[in-house]
Amino acid sequence: MASTIAIIGSGISGLVALKCSLEVGLQATCFEKSDCVGGLWNFMDHAENGRASIYRSVFTNACKEMMCYPDFPIPDEYPNFMHNAVFLEYLKLYAKHFDLLRHIKFRTAVVSVQKRPDFAKTGQWDVVTEQDGKQKSVIFDAVLICTGHHVYPNLPLQSFSGIEKFKGQYMHNRDYKFPEKYTGKNVLVVGLGNSGADIAVELGRTAKKVVLSTRSGSWIMSRVWDNGYPWDMVYLTRYQSFLNRILPRAVSDWRYESMMEKRFNHSHYGLVPVNKSLRKEPVFNDDLTASITCGTVTVKPNIREFRETSVVFDDGSMMKNVDVVIFATGYSYAYPFMDDSIVKNNKNKVSLYKGVFPPKLEKPTLAVIGLVQSLGGIPPTSDVQARWAVRVIKGTCKLPPKETMISELEEEEGEKKNWFGRSETLSTDYVVYMDELSSFIGCKPNLSRLCLTDPKLAFEVFFGPCSPYQFRLHGPGKWDGARKAILNQWKRTIDATQMRVVQAHQETSSLITLVKILFVPLLLLALFLAVF
Ligand SMILES: Cc1cc2nc3c(=O)[nH]c(=O)nc-3n(C[C@H](O)[C@H](O)[C@H](O)COP(=O)(O)OP(=O)(O)OC[C@H]3O[C@@H](n4cnc5c(N)ncnc54)[C@H](O)[C@@H]3O)c2cc1C
Ligand SMILES: *[C@@H]1O[C@H](CO)[C@@H](O)[C@H](O)[C@H]1NC(C)=O
Ligand SMILES: *[C@@H]1O[C@H](CO)[C@@H](O)[C@H](O)[C@H]1NC(C)=O
Ligand SMILES: *[C@@H]1O[C@H](CO)[C@@H](O)[C@H](O)[C@H]1NC(C)=O
Repeated sequence: MASTIAIIGSGISGLVALKCSLEVGLQATCFEKSDCVGGLWNFMDHAENGRASIYRSVFTNACKEMMCYPDFPIPDEYPNFMHNAVFLEYLKLYAKHFDLLRHIKFRTAVVSVQKRPDFAKTGQWDVVTEQDGKQKSVIFDAVLICTGHHVYPNLPLQSFSGIEKFKGQYMHNRDYKFPEKYTGKNVLVVGLGNSGADIAVELGRTAKKVVLSTRSGSWIMSRVWDNGYPWDMVYLTRYQSFLNRILPRAVSDWRYESMMEKRFNHSHYGLVPVNKSLRKEPVFNDDLTASITCGTVTVKPNIREFRETSVVFDDGSMMKNVDVVIFATGYSYAYPFMDDSIVKNNKNKVSLYKGVFPPKLEKPTLAVIGLVQSLGGIPPTSDVQARWAVRVIKGTCKLPPKETMISELEEEEGEKKNWFGRSETLSTDYVVYMDELSSFIGCKPNLSRLCLTDPKLAFEVFFGPCSPYQFRLHGPGKWDGARKAILNQWKRTIDATQMRVVQAHQETSSLITLVKILFVPLLLLALFLAVF
C-alpha cells in the first residue's frame, strides 16, 4: 500500500493535493520549481520558462464565495473579485493555516517521472528532481501532477499567412505584462478569450488604436450580474444545472442564449459566437462593450493575411501601420517530465478518467489535479479531485476496471464535443462534475436528508449558489463551519461592496420568495430523480 507521495507544483492544485495527502496519512513531499507558493497567481514582471505567466491587471473571474477552498473561506475584508496579488495572499494564508510550507521543497524542479521496472507489482515511480543544477532520484509510491495548464503558448503562426513578411513586433500574451510600453501604438490583439478581451480593453485606454480580431466570437458575461450580484452566485446553482439537464436541448439553448443576450445584443457589437448554443467558456469582462461603444476597441473578423506593416481581415478591411500584434490564442498543455503516452489516448488527446486518472496504468498511483475546466473555480474543483485521488491511492476508494473506464471516456468525449464543441481542455458541467466526484468519497450533499432535517439549508443548497462549502457538509472531511458559511454567503457578498451605511429599503424580496416557493414541486422532482 502506498505510503509516500510526490506532489509536483504548489499552485492552487498542489497546495490542496498536499493537504489532502497529509490528511489521509501519506508521507508527502511537494516539489516547486519557483521560490513561492501560488503558481499562476504569483505574478512576476517577466515570463519564466515552464511556468504560467499573467499580466499585472489579472483579477479573478469567479467571486470569493465560489473560488475558495471549501473549508477555508476567503477573509471578509477581501473584495468579491480579487486582484491576483490579493488572491495570492489568500493562498499563502491557506498554506500557513494548514501548515503546508514545511513539506514543500522550493526551487526544486521535477525533471523526470518514470515507472519503476517493477511498476506492475508495486505501482512505484522514479522521480528525478533538480535543485541548484544538481539532480537527485527518489522512489515514490505515488505522484500527483499539479503543474497547471496555462504554461505552453498555443501560437499557430503557420495559420497566419504572410506573418514572415510582417515587420512589426508580435508575441503571445504570455509575454504581455503592463500597458505602459504600448502608449501611442497601433495594437492588434488576436483572439477573444479572457486574456484577449482584458488586454484589448486595457490598451484601449492609452494606445493609439486597438483592434481585436476574433474568428468565432464569444458570449461576454459581466462579473456584475443580475441585481449587481456576482454572476456565479446567480448562475452556478443546482436549480439551473437541474433545469439544463431535464429541459429539451432546444429549450435549454434558448434559455442560455436569452441569458447571454440579456445585457446587450452581441450581434450589434460584432461579438456574437458563430455557434450560439455551444457551451464554450464565455468571456468575463465588464468593460469590453464600454470600450467598443467609446471607440477605444474595434472588433474585426479573422485575419486573412499579414503584410509588411498592415493586416487584412476576412471582410477585406485593413489595419494599417500595425506596431504590435498580441496573440491571445490560448495554451496547449504538456508534461515534459514524463512519457506522453501515460496521459494521452491513441488520438494524441489527453484522456483521463473523470479528468484525473490515466485509465491504462496497471496501478492507479498517478493522478492529475486541476486540469478539468468548468465554469466553477479551480480551488473547489481541485479540492474534490485531490480528496478522491488520495483515497484511490490509499486503496480506500476503488476505480472501475480498465475497460469500463476507457469505454466511458470514449462515450463522454462524444457527448462533450456535442455540448462544448472542439475544446482543448476537458470541459464539463460544474455541478454535475462536483456531485459525481463527491459521491465517490461520500460527501455529496444529501438533499433528501437535508429537506427533512434542515429545510432552510436545503433550500439554499438547491436554489442558492453551488458554493464550495456544500461539499464539506458531511462525510469524510466534514467541516463544522460549512452550514454557517452557506447561510451567510449572500451577506458576506453584500458586505464586501456595501462599505457605506445605507438606509434599509422597503422589503421587496417577499415576492421573490413567493415565486421561489412555487418551485418546491420542482425541487421534489429533483430529489426524486436524484434518488434514481
Ligand atoms: C489570466 C487567467 C485568469 C484566470 N482566472 C481564474 C479565476 O478567476 N478562477 C479560477 O478558478 N481559475 C482561473 N484561471 C485558471 C488557473 O489555471 C487556475 O486558477 C489555477 O492557477 C490553476 O492552478 P494550478 O495549481 O493547477 O496550476 P498553476 O497555478 O499553474 O501552478 C503550477 C505550479 O507548478 C509548478 N511547476 C510546474 N512544473 C513543475 C516542475 N516540473 N517541477 C516543479 N514545479 C513545477 C509551477 O512553478 C507552479 O507553481 C485563470 C487563468 C488565467 C491564465
Ligand atoms: C440582435 O440583433 C440582430 C440584428 O439586428 C437581430 O436579428 C436579433 O434578433 C437581435 N437579437 C436579440 C436577442 O434581440
Ligand atoms: C453548433 O454546435 C452544435 C453542437 O455541436 C451542432 O449540432 C450545430 O450543428 C452547430 N451549429 C453550427 C451553425 O455550426
Ligand atoms: C440520503 O439520506 C437519506 C435519508 O436519511 C438516506 O436514506 C440515503 O441513503 C442518503 N443517500 C446517500 C447517497 O447517502
